[in-house]
Amino acid sequence: MRRTINLLLALISISIFSFFTNDALQPQHPHAHGGGCIPAERAALLSFKKGITSDSANLLISWDGQDCCRWRGIGCNNRTGHVVKLHLRSTIVEDNPWGYYDPCEHDNSLFGEISPSLLSLKHLEHLDLSMNCLPGPNSKILNLMGSMTNLRYLDLSGIPFAGRVPSQLGNLSKLQYLDLAQTGNSMMYSMDITWLAKLPFLQFLSMSGVQLSGIADWPHTLNMIPPLRVIHLSSCSLDSANQSLLHLNLTKLEKLDLSSNDFEHSLTYGWFWKATTLKYLDLGDNRLFGQLPDTLGNMTYLQVLDISRNENTNMMMTGYYKNLCSLEILDLSVNGINGDIAVLMKSLPQCTSIQTALLELYHHRLGI
Ligand SMILES: *[C@@H]1O[C@H](CO)[C@@H](O)[C@H](O)[C@H]1NC(C)=O
Ligand SMILES: *[C@@H]1O[C@H](CO)[C@@H](O)[C@H](O)[C@H]1NC(C)=O
Ligand SMILES: *[C@@H]1O[C@H](CO)[C@@H](O)[C@H](O)[C@H]1NC(C)=O
Ligand SMILES: *[C@@H]1O[C@H](CO)[C@@H](O)[C@H](O)[C@H]1NC(C)=O
Ligand SMILES: *[C@@H]1O[C@H](CO)[C@@H](O)[C@H](O)[C@H]1NC(C)=O
Repeated sequence: MRRTINLLLALISISIFSFFTNDALQPQHPHAHGGGCIPAERAALLSFKKGITSDSANLLISWDGQDCCRWRGIGCNNRTGHVVKLHLRSTIVEDNPWGYYDPCEHDNSLFGEISPSLLSLKHLEHLDLSMNCLPGPNSKILNLMGSMTNLRYLDLSGIPFAGRVPSQLGNLSKLQYLDLAQTGNSMMYSMDITWLAKLPFLQFLSMSGVQLSGIADWPHTLNMIPPLRVIHLSSCSLDSANQSLLHLNLTKLEKLDLSSNDFEHSLTYGWFWKATTLKYLDLGDNRLFGQLPDTLGNMTYLQVLDISRNENTNMMMTGYYKNLCSLEILDLSVNGINGDIAVLMKSLPQCTSIQTALLELYHHRLGI
């Protein structure tokens, strides 16, 4: 049963993920601006290549010859010839997108550092160097990236940077996609994320694994970015999620992952219950306690609700949840489901197959 649930969760992550990456993986259009790439940009890419000390997967083997627009991972604007895309996500991640993954322990990653020569690619819109071991000596490159103001898409996830997340990233005002997620024991932190509110087009944000403890009003900052559709703030050491938002601007929010933080308060007062557009809500492993609020009954798009691994208190669902007809996965595992299972079953919708799944879980817990 548990495996089925994990599998379903995994499938959902894949489909949300591919929604954002399909475009990036499309083959390049042949460029029609007259052939060849701009020499200064080619030089900048070759400098970047010099910073790479190991490339066992041969990602950069095609980085040779005059026309850098034909090199692997490079995309050029077909009118102007400028390099607009650099996409060198480590390939082995596709094999294992969810497990713990340290790019510095995999031969197939790129090793080395990110050369500041990239900053001269002024027209770059898409930069993805994720899941490679490119931390560099002091993460300085990340501060400098605040000048790459044409970026729409920035994925540096899995690169084990250390130190403060630079607020200069707030200069990247065209960003739609920002992934700075860390895996493993992260050395990256922030004390202030208000710069995020300067990214008015942001649809995808992940800072999972970045230490954000002590940031009091993070929901308020997010609430100033109405286009957000996906937020991953898992394992960030966030202290609470019970801030009150008078008005929720996040009317497009579909996926919210707040698992493995440190919300030691009642489940009832989470700000996210106002986000009735959510399809996926992960609150697992947070030391939350208390009851689910009645407002949950209005989250009619919700497909996955994970409140597993919280405090062993009364997680009984007592509200009116008959309208949760999209619900496919309700994970209550390792919480004490106190009370009468019959009451729980009665409060759930008849319109989904969730009933069976829940019963199995319950029986599993009782060892039946
Ligand atoms: C240039 O690229 C755009 C999208 O990237 C595409 O729609 C257009 O057809 C291309 N033009 C030519 C001449 O290849
Ligand atoms: C970011 O923008 C500010 C002005 O808003 C400017 O002073 C600063 O130099 C910029 N930082 C970078 C890294 O470009
Ligand atoms: C979001 O909502 C708050 C009220 O909670 C409001 O003050 C703020 O101006 C809104 N921001 C945006 C960007 O819509
Ligand atoms: C929010 O939760 C914290 C514990 O994480 C608690 O100290 C605080 O009183 C709670 N605030 C409200 C308004 O419930
Ligand atoms: C659910 O939504 C309806 C309509 O917006 C509202 O009247 C009702 O109060 C909401 N229910 C809860 C429990 O928030």
